[in-house]
Amino acid sequence: MTLLTISHRAEKTPPSPIRKLAGLAQQAADRGTHVYRLNIGQPDLRSPKEFLEGVSSFAKEVVAYEGSQGSRDLLSTWVSCINRDYDIELTNEQMLITMGASEALIFAFMVVCDPGDEILMFDPTYANYIGFSAISGVRLVSLPCSLEDKFALPTREDIERYISPYTRAVLLCNPNNPTGAVCSDDELRMLVDLCRERDLFLIVDETYREFVYDGVKPRCIYEIAPKDPRIIVVDSLSKRFSLCGARIGCMLTWHPEVMRAAFHIAQARLSAPTIEQDAAAHMLQTIGDQYLRDALAEYQTRRDAAVSALSRIPGVTTHAPQGGFYLLAKLPVKDAEDFASFMLTDFSSGGKTTFVAPAAGFYMLREAGRSTIRIAFVLNRDDTDVAIAVLGEGLRAYQSRRV
Ligand SMILES: Cc1ncc(COP(=O)(O)O)c(C=O)c1O
Repeated sequence: MTLLTISHRAEKTPPSPIRKLAGLAQQAADRGTHVYRLNIGQPDLRSPKEFLEGVSSFAKEVVAYEGSQGSRDLLSTWVSCINRDYDIELTNEQMLITMGASEALIFAFMVVCDPGDEILMFDPTYANYIGFSAISGVRLVSLPCSLEDKFALPTREDIERYISPYTRAVLLCNPNNPTGAVCSDDELRMLVDLCRERDLFLIVDETYREFVYDGVKPRCIYEIAPKDPRIIVVDSLSKRFSLCGARIGCMLTWHPEVMRAAFHIAQARLSAPTIEQDAAAHMLQTIGDQYLRDALAEYQTRRDAAVSALSRIPGVTTHAPQGGFYLLAKLPVKDAEDFASFMLTDFSSGGKTTFVAPAAGFYMLREAGRSTIRIAFVLNRDDTDVAIAVLGEGLRAYQSRRV
């Protein structure tokens, strides 16, 4: 018997709610059931051929470390793409290439907070923020938003009530995962003003920036507050270009000390992947805008299909997300995790079932999401239709089983 224990930090790091039921899904697949996977934001659109060309044309004899800030080529290329699309005046000085938005978020938490400091965020939100806060010792303070209000931000007065002497930053995910809410310019201005007046950092996760529907123009927060040093933007190629496995993201800031400190942390982890940075630079230089236009049109079609299929299931409440590629749906069940497990262990229709993510893991205030599921629009329109029809059948079977 050993007395060795693991750290409190490790104890407090929760498992991903998205991957939690993956074992059950695998067992269902092993039994020969076709599992429609709406649980995870792994896009099924093909990655750009320009990226794959970049990978296969890598011609160096040694795969060496890249610079800790990122490859010069990728920095200059990505900076000019953002400047072109959003008319902001970034230079390479403001960008640090990271291993996905995930690493940029960890850097941002580490740089602006000491252990015990607080970051305000809006509930529900991206579940891995909870993991990042456990790793960095930051306390996330959550402000509830509701499906009934289409997940609009709380008012400035409501947000201010949560500010304490330990608050260091506000964290915004825009467009939001999992709600699909997109902030209006007024909401963004309100947050910028609040952070200026209360001396807080504003961390904006723009991983889904280009995924805004119904003809609305995507916004980068720097258009609202040009060169504002209190803003830290987190960005990623994962979703925009179906490149989740490339692990390429970045952190942007006009704050010299924040950048210097983040760079020192980046030096400790040496560099982001070399071949993927090369390929990403090649892709951004050559791709044109059709890829993203097509992706956006496809996701909008899927969103519409998902919302209309869900509206046909009695007792389900949902909303049409304005952005991102997820939606939340409230089911007429007490415990959506129990229902999601049932779909994988006890139900199939014509050899098919549907895998959804229970949404409680996206809520700091777990109870608020107890009856809710998250659906990712990662299947084509026809599969989305079938997957949600199967979900409806499963729901009926689950309810009749409980009576
Ligand atoms: C809101 C949000 N931020 C960050 C990430 C992490 O992205 P990356 O693959 O760039 O690390 C995700 C991934 O799902 C996300 O949904």
